[in-house]
Amino acid sequence: MTTDVHVFSPGRVNLIGEHTDYSGGLVLPMALSVGITIRGATTPGRIDLTSDTAEGAVSYRLDAPDTAVLGSWGRFLPSLLAQLDLGPEVGLTAHLTSDLPPASGLSSSSALSCGVALALAGPGSAWDHDRMALAQACRQAEIDAFGVNIGIMDQAAIAVSGTGQALLLDCATLETDPVTLPDGLDVLVVHSGVYRQLEGSQYNDRAASAAELTRRLGPLREVALAEVEALDDAVLRRRGRHIVTENARVLSMIEAFAAGDVVDAGRLLDEGHRSLAEDYETSNDEVDAMVARVRATPGVLGARLTGGGFGGSLVAFAEPGVELDVETWWKRAAPRGGVSFV
Ligand code: GLA
Repeated sequence: MTTDVHVFSPGRVNLIGEHTDYSGGLVLPMALSVGITIRGATTPGRIDLTSDTAEGAVSYRLDAPDTAVLGSWGRFLPSLLAQLDLGPEVGLTAHLTSDLPPASGLSSSSALSCGVALALAGPGSAWDHDRMALAQACRQAEIDAFGVNIGIMDQAAIAVSGTGQALLLDCATLETDPVTLPDGLDVLVVHSGVYRQLEGSQYNDRAASAAELTRRLGPLREVALAEVEALDDAVLRRRGRHIVTENARVLSMIEAFAAGDVVDAGRLLDEGHRSLAEDYETSNDEVDAMVARVRATPGVLGARLTGGGFGGSLVAFAEPGVELDVETWWKRAAPRGGVSFV
């Protein structure tokens, strides 16, 4: 017996709290209204996926995993199936469409893994109910497939977010709090024009620096800036300065939102970008130029690189109705909520 499947899995934009998740820090992402749509039917024992935007078909037989055809985009499937442990009768034949620009730092890969995971698990399943567990399974599948030691932010934003709200996530305890955006603030997501993937980037180097800092100083959430400034290694000092000040910026952003202070919220984005560019060194000249250009638009309150970096997208705060004059993809974010059955 087969059942129709229709899932929408959003991309995400991170408002603030960049490169803090893998050291147990704070993050404030938001699920987007753009993402991946999965339409098809359950097909016991086999998974067959095609996509408008990714090359090649993915084909997996549960009773013959060695014959799997995974292409470049289906590599997360074997690990995901092992994590989900849904038995030999699970299966899905589906076509995927996406209105999310790929390799844009907006988490198209986690939209894919979370969407496929929910589609496989089914409505009302244990995985549907325990969204943080679903996020953890997808994170592990992506780490196993792509060898990038990512944190939990993207999968949590996509699996757990509620409609119309950003998600404050404590990556040490996995506690979440929905956060309402203040009136008079538009969130703009802007492609920098530099397409990139984290695979093969310096992401793992940054994660290793955070682990080394934690080894030397203890949990970075509890570390004072003065302790970081006292380090003898100049690179670690810069990396640590970013992480410590970025965790503080997440708390300041929550306060600015609660007070309705959109100017201060914008200032925190500007500070966040300076910190990523100078201390964490995940920006580049093209991204910096795009940040400056967006920032110079009348009505824009602040702008920064969002996501893993080395290219990808920017997030900007603006007064309502501001239009950007850029050639790249951009969108006013409308938080539609996490991955769901349609
Ligand atoms: C990528 C990773 C996340 C997070 C961000 C940087 O999106 O998948 O876990 O580390 O980079 O904040």
